[in-house]
Amino acid sequence: MVFPEYRPRRMRQNSAFRSLIRETHLSPAQFIYPIFVMPGKKVREEIPSMPGVFRLSVDQLAAEAKECLKLGINGVILFGLPEKKDAMGTGAHIKDGIIQRAIRELKNKAPELMVITDVCLCEYTDHGHCGCLINNSVDNDATLEILAKTALSHANAGADMVAPSDMMDGRVAEIRATLDENNFDNIPIMSYAVKYASAFYGPFRDAADCAPTFGDRRSYQMDPANSREALREATLDVDEGADILMVKPAVAYLDIISKLRDEFDLPIAAYHVSGEYAMIKAAAEKGWIDGDKVMEETLLSIKRAGADIIITYFAKDMARLLQK
Ligand code: PBG
Repeated sequence: MVFPEYRPRRMRQNSAFRSLIRETHLSPAQFIYPIFVMPGKKVREEIPSMPGVFRLSVDQLAAEAKECLKLGINGVILFGLPEKKDAMGTGAHIKDGIIQRAIRELKNKAPELMVITDVCLCEYTDHGHCGCLINNSVDNDATLEILAKTALSHANAGADMVAPSDMMDGRVAEIRATLDENNFDNIPIMSYAVKYASAFYGPFRDAADCAPTFGDRRSYQMDPANSREALREATLDVDEGADILMVKPAVAYLDIISKLRDEFDLPIAAYHVSGEYAMIKAAAEKGWIDGDKVMEETLLSIKRAGADIIITYFAKDMARLLQK
């Protein structure tokens, strides 16, 4: 059937028809909200390059958790600004580290909320790289043990899931083995399987104070030009025991999300990162775009590409819009 017998516009004539044939839906239950935790008391500090996103001290977390739950968001991912940094990123795995305290507070005050932790060293090293250095280069194998220790310390504090974002080779297997040896075989790993060396992380690095003091992350994060390599990275993480595969960033990499969706049967998460959020906020503040509409269209594109789960700074805003 072709025009004039077939007319696609028939199914678009009003919102009842449009919603009847809508293929993609957003649900707050599949959003994960990132939270930045910092030392101090009663701190609620807006991040300049991420309007609407705050650095919070531990005592502010319960209120934030309750707000998320009320909006139907069931999970948060935590990033920490430690009191002290050192060459080995020790602050990442100490018992009373910022994240460990944050996890205990959240599990105490809002036990239903899923607490996911970012497992990486860049916020904890004084050089800002995601692993420890040997001769000024990030040493893969020496870093694995510290990452596994970090994941274990999160599980010990009560985390529900760990999410390694460092991009060292072999870290999923190392973390899985360490968790299993310590009776945490019920803690899943959401692997940042496909993480590109992206300039879209700029605002996050201000927020979490974790820009490298020299060089860049291109010897461990992926080259934005590569897509076959994404499949290879994801395959390795599946074989090492990942439970969820993540692609990061999201919008500039929708083709990668779609490819992973076709090739793998694990749940796929997409990280709609800080720069992607900041661009929409900035253009909306200038009055150049309708922020709410662009937010919804953007998150829909990520879902339509094949992501099940979206990690986004828009989680609360989008959940509120869906309630209207
Ligand atoms: C830690 C980490 C980063 C992000 C998440 N985990 C920064 C980086 O890799 O440089 C970025 C998230 C964002 O931009 O929103 N390695």
